Amino acid sequence: MKQTASFTCTVCGAAYRKWAGKCDACGGWNTIAEEAPLSTGPKSLGAKGRPIPLSDLATEEAAPPRASSGIDELDRVLGGGLVPASAILVGGDPGIGKSTLLLQAAASFARKGLKCLYISGEEASAQVRMRAQRLGLTDAAVQLGAETNLRDILTTLDAERPALAVIDSIQTMWLDSIEAAPGSVSQVRASAHELVTFAKRRGVAIILVGHVTKDGQIAGPRVVEHMVDTVLYFEGERGHQFRILRAVKNRFGPADEIGVFEMTGGGLAEVPNPSALFLANRDQPAPGSAVFSGIEGTRPVLTEIQALVAPSTLASPRRTVVGLDSGRVSTILAVLEARCGIPFAGLDVFLNVAGGFRVSEPAADLAVAGALLSAREDVAIPPDMVLFGEISLSGALRPVGQTENRLKEASKLGFSQATVPSHSKIEGAAGLMVRQMPDLTTFVGEMFGAG
Ligand code: TYD
Ligand code: MG
Repeated sequence: MKQTASFTCTVCGAAYRKWAGKCDACGGWNTIAEEAPLSTGPKSLGAKGRPIPLSDLATEEAAPPRASSGIDELDRVLGGGLVPASAILVGGDPGIGKSTLLLQAAASFARKGLKCLYISGEEASAQVRMRAQRLGLTDAAVQLGAETNLRDILTTLDAERPALAVIDSIQTMWLDSIEAAPGSVSQVRASAHELVTFAKRRGVAIILVGHVTKDGQIAGPRVVEHMVDTVLYFEGERGHQFRILRAVKNRFGPADEIGVFEMTGGGLAEVPNPSALFLANRDQPAPGSAVFSGIEGTRPVLTEIQALVAPSTLASPRRTVVGLDSGRVSTILAVLEARCGIPFAGLDVFLNVAGGFRVSEPAADLAVAGALLSAREDVAIPPDMVLFGEISLSGALRPVGQTENRLKEASKLGFSQATVPSHSKIEGAAGLMVRQMPDLTTFVGEMFGAG
């Protein structure tokens, strides 16, 4: 294969022959940088390969046991614990708490008897030790190393054979066989490849830390996503204490699973009941507020959707949306206008998910519509009511999955009514009074008078 491409997107790794301002693959602007061409491997493929031993699917070998860290929020996201010899990528914005999380995880695994190595390419061992002191982890038998040369790291791992090695971060690692700066697409890709291959061959579980980068100076974690077994993203909003660890890919468990943590002075604390956290400080019934019963992975999470609708002085009124998909919100506004005759023209619309949570389910449509209408009509939705349901373009409401789990969680948190689409499966309504609505017009009529 002839390799001519010498420009690569630092975010997604797409290759180009010439420089361009925008990456067609991931849509990033100014992320394409010149790279040394990738190695094309040995020039002559004269020698014959040897046959590899094949086996069939039925095997007597028992599945290797997963190691539990004792941090439930982490174990769940991993699909029930750490799979031996697996490769995991933990991505996130700089400063979000990746190093803190993984140091705590390594310490927990070490306390469970696993041999753990923590290799930091960003901080000196003394700095990591200081952090461990603050977090009260000094009793855990985690071995630290501060190194960026991958050859030395692999030699060390081969000699030590730990059960788990944390590499913080993949963007600081470099291989001397690659002529490119650390953090470049070719270095990140080659380093990750070496580490993942090592993990499989030697039975060492490896966690790679990857910084999400916006400016395109160094390669982002997406470049290595396809190489690893599990991809976790650590997210959080600025100014909010809670952090979410989200599985976006998992060969050994469900994707979309989340773990919720809170950043405290003593490190990350688990949040076993996130609904209570996101619904905290809701005292008075207020116009513009609707509680959505959502599902994140296998777990129901209740969040408050807040709307503010105000007369606009602008020719094209503002649509400010935080924590929801703005395209989805525009669609809901259009359906409200076209099917229910409720215009939002000339009105600024602000929408927000309380607590800085992100909601991506279409099931949130009804709660969004509820919050918008409640704000526009200045009528509060009963504070003990949850809403969920998908709105179709015709204005009809469509039932969504896991209705029972959503209702159960609402009931557990003290809600007593729910508004859901008709034909929802509500057998296990968990003692809630459930109102079923066929379409948005009925919803508007019943909740807000004629509208
Ligand atoms: P860090 O784990 O270094 O982030 P990353 O590795 O993702 O870049 O976390 C950095 C932030 O976390 C820093 O702003 C301070 C905060 N922090 C706390 O609030 N409490 C703590 O106990 C620790 C260790 C960090
Ligand atoms: Mg760090």
